[in-house]
Parts: sequence; C-alpha cells; structure tokens
Amino acid sequence: MARVFCIANQKGGVGKTTTAINLASAMAKSSNRTLVVDLDPQCNATSGLGHEPAERHPLLIDSPIRESILETSQQNLFLMPGCRSFQDVDKLENGELSQGDLLKQHLEAGMGGFDTVFIDCPPSLGELTQAALASSTEVLMPIQCEFYAMEGLTQMIHVIRDVMQKHPGRLTFGGILLTMYDPRFELTHEVDNEVREFFGDIVFDTVIPRDIAISEAPSYGQSVLAYSPRSRGARAYIELCMEVLERD
Ligand SMILES: Nc1ncnc2c1ncn2[C@@H]1O[C@H](COP(=O)(O)OP(=O)(O)OP(=O)(O)O)[C@@H](O)[C@H]1O
Ligand SMILES: [Mg+2]
Repeated sequence: MARVFCIANQKGGVGKTTTAINLASAMAKSSNRTLVVDLDPQCNATSGLGHEPAERHPLLIDSPIRESILETSQQNLFLMPGCRSFQDVDKLENGELSQGDLLKQHLEAGMGGFDTVFIDCPPSLGELTQAALASSTEVLMPIQCEFYAMEGLTQMIHVIRDVMQKHPGRLTFGGILLTMYDPRFELTHEVDNEVREFFGDIVFDTVIPRDIAISEAPSYGQSVLAYSPRSRGARAYIELCMEVLERD
C-alpha cells in the first residue's frame, strides 16, 4: 500500500512546501515512484517543481484526475499541480465536493500507481487540509524553531484526532520535524527541548538546518537535492528520508 504523507501545520511559513518538495525528491531518488499533490492555492509546490499553476483545479475537471498529473525534471517525481482560481478553491471548500467524503475519494483516485505521496497543505485547518488528512496514512508536521512554534498546535491536534476517529485505522502520526534549525541561537535549543519534551519519540532525530540553498532552489524549479546536492540542506533531507523509510 502507498504511504501517503499529509504535510500540515496551520501556521504559515514553517517549511511545509519545502519539506514536501525535498522529502519527495529524496524518496524519488531512492527509487520510489513519488507524487507531490499541491493542495495549496498559493501553488508554491507547483512553481517549486518548475510548473505553472493549473487553470482549472485538477480535482474539479471532468477528465480523469490522472491526466492532470505532470512529470518533473527529476525521474520518478510527479506533480498534481495546484490552482489559484478563487472560484475553484471556493468550490472545493464549500461546494458539492466538500460534502461527505467526495473530496477524499477524488484525491485518492489521483494517487493510484505511486509508492509515496506527499500532500502539501495550505496554512489552515479548513476543508482542504481535512480532506488531505483523511486521504493520508501519516501526518507530518514541520515546526519552525521560533518563539511561537508551539502556538496553535493543540487546535491542529484536535483536527487530526477528529479525522482519526472518523476514519479509524488509517491515519497515524508520522512525525514532527524541526525546520530552519540554527544552533547558534539559544531559542533554537529551547524550542528543540520543548517540542521533544511535549511530543517525545515522534519528533524526528533529523533536523533541517537553515540553509540558503534550500531557499534558492525553488526559483530554479528544482529540489535542493538537484540544485545543490552537496549542500547541508540536501544532506538533511536525504537523512530525513532514511529516517522516514526506517519508520515504515
Ligand atoms: N531550512 C530552510 N532554510 C532556509 N530557508 C528555508 C528553509 N525552509 C524553508 N525556508 C524558506 O522559508 C519560507 C517558508 O517556507 P515554506 O514555503 O516551505 O513554508 P510553508 O509552511 O509551506 O508556508 P505556507 O504556510 O505559506 O504554505 C520560504 O521562503 C522557504 O524558501
Ligand atoms: Mg506552503
């Protein structure tokens, strides 16, 4: 069965998209047929993988969802692009599809034939994030090492628990990832300690360092592994991939 990772945190700018792209790239490199689903209307995962946002949302068009899946410049790595259309996003969140499990079923129809799927969520706990959680086997939560890191997490955990109750036996807590880690700052160590004390073993040993190569790569439409294979950022995402594979 495919492993489907929902990359979620309702806080903005914590490294969700960066993690979706680079962990997916590392998975594809280790011979897993990998799909990134861009569920965020900002479409950062789409541009970060070198594509333009779709004009109509792949989950809303009449033709089979699979037909909207795109190749990327990396072997084994595919993309279901996002869409910026306000009307389409509104339809997804408030229209017919948001009733019952339709959005979940649609999403799942697009995932067939992949070993690993990463769903990049918007910074909210709305319908899109909830459908992504319901379609996933694991939720992976990036946390930025900053002062408000833990704020809002209880809400997030409530929503995850709700989905777990509605769809028993499928979604698990895949892990918590510390991002933009800078050991020169005392605050980084404080957040690190606090998060590990609160969440225990589900926090990944691997941390993602703050690295300029990570922030430059998307403007070339590439993962950091392709853009700067020897950078600290690329090595960290490969190490994270190993840890994720070991946790299977
Ligand atoms: N480890 C890192 N080192 C340096 N810059 C980083 C790192 N991780 C992320 N960034 C940068 O921080 C910004 C936010 O990251 P990203 O877009 O991945 O967050 P996000 O959680 O997806 O944001 P949003 O909630 O808006 O979707 C981006 O400009 C990204 O390039
Ligand atoms: Mg994002």
